[in-house]
Amino acid sequence: MKIAIYPGSFDPITNGHIDIINRASDLFDKLIIAVASNNSKQSLFSKQQRVEILEESLSNNNIEIDSFDGLLVDYATNKNVFTIIRGLRTLSDFDYEFRMAIMNRNLNQSIETIFLMTDEKYSHISSSSIKEIYLLGGDIDTFVPKAVLSKLNQVNNEKNNK
Ligand code: PNS
Repeated sequence: MKIAIYPGSFDPITNGHIDIINRASDLFDKLIIAVASNNSKQSLFSKQQRVEILEESLSNNNIEIDSFDGLLVDYATNKNVFTIIRGLRTLSDFDYEFRMAIMNRNLNQSIETIFLMTDEKYSHISSSSIKEIYLLGGDIDTFVPKAVLSKLNQVNNEKNNK
């Protein structure tokens, strides 16, 4: 059985991530989508909320949604899965992704990273820009699945009711 892990912060998941998930789930028997903390980024949603959004947004029948702390290579080793999927939007993504792939391979020689390119219609979408647009009052409806918007409303309502 060919299994791959698609790790990411998914804070929040975007339509570009969904495009990569659909492509990868067509290529592999099973795809594990693994929500991680990215220590260099401030998060909008908790890890649990991000997992819930993924569960509501995805209906592929060969995916598993999970989360992890610590190193990706350790998570992958524990799962006995050595193929990592990462998405590329533009050439500027490549530098960061290349360094991460090589570092992960240095940490564990068995790890192989496979890059998939998003449809160019998503190449301008990033979770960071979605967060900024949302926090500054802009409209993000066309960039993210509906579950992101409902979770944002839920989080805001909970805040206002406190
Ligand atoms: O969606 P992102 O923020 O680009 O995903 C980055 C992520 C979460 C895949 C990366 O930061 C990661 O693998 N974090 C887990 C900790 C780790 O293994 N760090 C070393 C990476 S070389």
